[in-house]
Amino acid sequence: MVRKLTPRELRQRRATIKFAKIFLSLTVGFWFLSSVPYIVIRAGSYLDNRGLLGEAPWTVKSKDICGHSLEKNAEGRVIVVTGANSGIGYEAAKTLALLNADKVVLGCRGKEKCAYSKAMIDAERQSLCFKGFEKDFESNVIDPGLNLDLGDLEGVEKWATALSSTEGITYVSDLVLNAGIMSTPLEPRNEGTGLENQLHTNHVAHFYLTSLMLPLLESVSAVEDAVKSSKVVTIASLAAQSPFSFDLSDINFTKGRSFASLTAYSQSKRANLLFAQHVHDSLNPKGIKSLAAHPGYTRTSLFHNNWHFLPKQLEFIKDLAAENTLFSMSSFDGSMMTVRAILDENIPSGSYVTPMLYAVGTPVVSKPKNAKWYNLGYERGEVMYPFMENTWSWIWGGFGYSKEDVEGLNVWTEGITGVSVK
Ligand SMILES: *[C@@H]1O[C@H](CO)[C@@H](O)[C@H](O)[C@H]1NC(C)=O
Repeated sequence: MVRKLTPRELRQRRATIKFAKIFLSLTVGFWFLSSVPYIVIRAGSYLDNRGLLGEAPWTVKSKDICGHSLEKNAEGRVIVVTGANSGIGYEAAKTLALLNADKVVLGCRGKEKCAYSKAMIDAERQSLCFKGFEKDFESNVIDPGLNLDLGDLEGVEKWATALSSTEGITYVSDLVLNAGIMSTPLEPRNEGTGLENQLHTNHVAHFYLTSLMLPLLESVSAVEDAVKSSKVVTIASLAAQSPFSFDLSDINFTKGRSFASLTAYSQSKRANLLFAQHVHDSLNPKGIKSLAAHPGYTRTSLFHNNWHFLPKQLEFIKDLAAENTLFSMSSFDGSMMTVRAILDENIPSGSYVTPMLYAVGTPVVSKPKNAKWYNLGYERGEVMYPFMENTWSWIWGGFGYSKEDVEGLNVWTEGITGVSVK
């Protein structure tokens, strides 16, 4: 016979069951909710990779390399990549070398890093495309042998001069403004300009380099066997979409705007997009294209090196961000936005090449004049530029930018660098 429970025991048992139910639903609920984005992104990637989300996915496969593909072929191109020794810069440089680029010029902070990257890329190309035969192999990777530290404008000038006088360099078809730093502290500021570091490195130094590269970019049309037009490819970021981080009236964080390293990063990346727009406005009439690309969420050292603001106890977050394989792309996949921007001649100037699924996926192109109703910039009476057309923009609220922003930043940067891009 089962003993009848006392009311007290009954209450206890009910409480236990209730606790177990709550515990179970919280656990399952949490597990379920946290796996939803994972499932959505992975399912999306699966469909994307099979071309079921629109156009067929654009990616470089091993059958394309060594000149086996007509469409994915970099012949005739002389490509300059800043930040070419790691992350998407390295992967893009390597892929373009394997796709038979005429020349891939590596710009690295630290010249031994460039020498190392060149050796790695050469070895891979020699073994894949020349079956290891040394006598047939001719490297297409150029290491100018100088440090390209974007923190130092004088060094940038020396580097550009060295490149111009490098044997065999008569033109540049593609300038990839790829190098970037993230989440650096406000002090010490840049030694040369006194500017906030991310703005200096990511935007100002690239503006300067672009200006110095103009003669080589313009030389394309004069060279037989070169590709038809040259272009500037600016690498922006998802962070560029934060509309509240860019403030031209206090761009150097000196007039009391509160500083957060990620705000400054977003500002520098928005400056990249505004610059890409400026290049489109001023150089496209002269035949030079301007494209922007962003790599979504790609696992690179950006996440490792620069999260200074994290207290010691939370430093594991940067490892999670840097090594998170669930939500992020590999450097190779992240570099495909860059590679497509360079190789796909059908992309018109003023386009933005982004991952299919916002943060991950194969590259898709937002073409000019393709604005969607949810681009709230229209409502605010701003000009909606193609670089800001991203189908997911509503997540961040209004983020059109005005012609005044583009021109204001341009005039300001001309003032700092003493040169112009036009
Ligand atoms: C940026 O701010 C710093 C600190 O006030 C100042 O020293 C520097 O000159 C400023 N740079 C520019 C270009 O305004």
